[in-house]
Amino acid sequence: MTKRFYVSTPIYYVNGAPHIGHAYTTIAADVLARFKRLDGYDVFFLTGTDEHGQKVEQAAAAAGVAPQAYVDRISQDFRDMADAMGVSYDDWIRTTEQRHIESCTELWKRIEATGDIYLGHYEGWYSVRDEAFYDEDELVTLPGGTKIAAKSKAPVEWVKEPSYFFRLSAWGDRLLRFYEENPDALAPSSSKNEILSFIRGGLRDLSVSRTTFSWGIPVPGAPDHVMYVWLDALTNYITAVGFPDTAAPRWDFWPADVHLVGKDIIRFHAVYWHAFLMSAGLEPPKRVSSNGWWVVDGEKMSKSLGNVVEPRALAKTFGLDQIRYFLLREKPFGADGSLNHQAIISRMNVELANDLGNLAQRSLSLIAKNCDGKLPGRGPATAEDTALLDAANALPDLVRLNMDRQTFHEALEDIWKVIRSANAYIDHQAPWALKKTDPIRMAVVLRVLVDTMRVVATLLQPFMPVSIGRMMDQLGVPLESRSLAALAAPLADGTSLPTPQGVFPRYVEPA
Ligand code: MSP
Repeated sequence: MTKRFYVSTPIYYVNGAPHIGHAYTTIAADVLARFKRLDGYDVFFLTGTDEHGQKVEQAAAAAGVAPQAYVDRISQDFRDMADAMGVSYDDWIRTTEQRHIESCTELWKRIEATGDIYLGHYEGWYSVRDEAFYDEDELVTLPGGTKIAAKSKAPVEWVKEPSYFFRLSAWGDRLLRFYEENPDALAPSSSKNEILSFIRGGLRDLSVSRTTFSWGIPVPGAPDHVMYVWLDALTNYITAVGFPDTAAPRWDFWPADVHLVGKDIIRFHAVYWHAFLMSAGLEPPKRVSSNGWWVVDGEKMSKSLGNVVEPRALAKTFGLDQIRYFLLREKPFGADGSLNHQAIISRMNVELANDLGNLAQRSLSLIAKNCDGKLPGRGPATAEDTALLDAANALPDLVRLNMDRQTFHEALEDIWKVIRSANAYIDHQAPWALKKTDPIRMAVVLRVLVDTMRVVATLLQPFMPVSIGRMMDQLGVPLESRSLAALAAPLADGTSLPTPQGVFPRYVEPA
């Protein structure tokens, strides 16, 4: 049976330029997608842009451009950014596409047919920035009397308009049961607790259409209403696998294995989305995993502070693989973290250049010099050889587990433990001193090092595809032998290795 894996990122609002926060979730999804492909899965990796709603309409107006022309331009910029970050998405979805409009229309009709949609009147608080309805108790009043959303600090306005409602209040018990029966369906536990207490607090029916602007998907049979942008946006995850055509080749990917989402948008993904799907008779996603935020030198990124980090610029300064590595290594996925150049440089120089780069360079130079550039064969193993190889061979399972939990930083820490052990091993074995005294043992030691680095490199490919590809070339691993399954077959003794070249440069401050 084919093993399938479906991973998605949030689709990004096209109301401004992409920044490192957007790149982060996309890169994390890319690492996961690449890892699953390496592990033999048929992967569907979806990302794209969220293009309707009042916020985007206002951004287009502010730019003096018609909405469609505006979203075309910004969506392309997001796509260029994803391409520049080496992101291997399988589909780029845009909510203004015809396939998506059809999908939303059909989902709406199915929910309506079950009696879960009714016409009413909304009167209450709305935040355009968050595209969210808020209850009074979710707001705080500033000294001047202005109200803002307590959590996001976004301004709110009072809206009063005819609106269709979704009978969310009817789904609380079903949602609680779902999370009870599926303990891994929402992570990390802090997000889960937040959502469970929100549901337990009692769900109110949700306004799912707007009438005071028109940039959205018309409600079937009520063209003066457009669908609430979150109902529209969430539906992207089923549009891309073919909904409503359940005979579409990709439909088998549903339910998605994991939606990666920022911690600010969990409620939409873990309450509303599940209820919409359940109401329409569709399965909810298997897991929603939320990520924390990046702050810059301790400050929230904002245009007014002028500290918005452009991912392409960062990659140009430090190297793309270096940035990808940093983002996944520096903080746990679910937690917040601070981005600063010193932290990047330190990871780059200590972990990439020293620990990993030097290990490869030292071992491979000795093979070039002392073994005629050919991969030595395996030989009788000492206890130390076995200890290192065992630790390396245990890595794939550890990394698999961490990938499934989105604990990317722990996967990298586990890999680095082996790299550090390999450095201790080479120092202790001192193969450079063995050339004259015991060349056979020297060859065995070098082979142990290559075998260890091969496992390490195989597992690091998803994080740093280009640099590790080059390292694999140097280790003499043929292209078709770079999967996890291929680790079972040893590299061929006597393979000619290319002249070693450093893969991970040290960062030197420009003069
Ligand atoms: N369009 C909605 C998502 C719809 S998904 C069906 C949206 N878009 S967004 O562009 O505002 O945000 C997209 C993601 O970027 C969110 O997951 C958000 O958490 C993330 N980030 C925005 N700024 C961020 C940081 N500074 N750090 C990390 N991620 C942050 O919400």
